[in-house]
Amino acid sequence: MSGNRKKGVQVAVLGNTIESPQELFVHKLGAALTMEETILDVLEKLQQEAHDPSLRRNLQQHQKETRGHVQNLRQVFTALGEKPEGQPCPAIEGLQKEGDQLLGKVDEPLVDSVILAGVIETEHHEIAVYDGLIIQAERMGDDDVIALLNENIEEEEATLKKAIAAAEQLAKKTVRQTA
Ligand SMILES: [Fe+2]
Ligand SMILES: [Fe+2]
Repeated sequence: MSGNRKKGVQVAVLGNTIESPQELFVHKLGAALTMEETILDVLEKLQQEAHDPSLRRNLQQHQKETRGHVQNLRQVFTALGEKPEGQPCPAIEGLQKEGDQLLGKVDEPLVDSVILAGVIETEHHEIAVYDGLIIQAERMGDDDVIALLNENIEEEEATLKKAIAAAEQLAKKTVRQTA
């Protein structure tokens, strides 16, 4: 039996062998789908925890955008003739867990700082994921797919900027209060 046939058997039995760049792209797309769906839940929870009304509004607005990210990713699957299917995304689970643990430990006045730090870290991660997908989409030369992914990354970048500005403002306020 050749090495290749052995591999084929493995695909059928375990379904865990990724052999082409297209398959790899679809797998990463599935991880991105899980990432966005997880973020939808996180944003819902954070709106209930946030103190500052403008932070709550921004979280709500990004939750709405995130619903669009999920839709866009589903459209990418469809454009490729694939069924939308989530893949494990331990990276986002880790970010979620770290944020949860910290929120359980900090005093109330620090909650918004923890939320903003979590948003900044999450948006950086999302941007990295979309950077990787866009590189591959450009290689495949599918304009619709590129446009959908660009729509997502642009909203992540705008959210990151807004969160950094809010975190800077909050840090200044905290310094004044403790001075
Ligand atoms: Fe997103
Ligand atoms: Fe985001």
